Amino acid sequence: MRQTQYIVWKDEYSVGRSDMDRQHQAILSLINRLYVAQQGQPGFATISPMLEGLLQFTVTHFSQEERLLEKGGYPDLERHKKAHAELARSTRMMVQQFLTEKEDATFNLLAFLRKWWTQHIVGLDQECKPYLPPEVKVARKLRPNDLV
Ligand SMILES: [Fe+2]
Ligand SMILES: [Fe+2]
Repeated sequence: MRQTQYIVWKDEYSVGRSDMDRQHQAILSLINRLYVAQQGQPGFATISPMLEGLLQFTVTHFSQEERLLEKGGYPDLERHKKAHAELARSTRMMVQQFLTEKEDATFNLLAFLRKWWTQHIVGLDQECKPYLPPEVKVARKLRPNDLV
């Protein structure tokens, strides 16, 4: 039977904002999908859009998280930004290697991604928790029935 959960989400990964948690969950689930795909010995055409999607989502997540932390006055933002930039660079390099050499470098990439993401979410991202501004929930207009 194929294993489907390469990384399992744990409650302790939560950073206290549902939008950021959802983004972290989405990244872990992209890595899990890549893991499942890799077990089936997929072709280049299957893996390359998945890798590019993961890279794109990662970069978007980093910039949104950094914007929030800047807003929240997080004092160690430069170090955090550096960690993000290093991961983005390493991922891009590995993806590029896969795309140009067309060889199965996904195994190394998966091990790297699992280690980096779990350590980052339980490490630096947890440190930031107190500096993440509260989520703004869009208020719904009061309707007559709400008062009944
Ligand atoms: Fe994050
Ligand atoms: Fe982060």
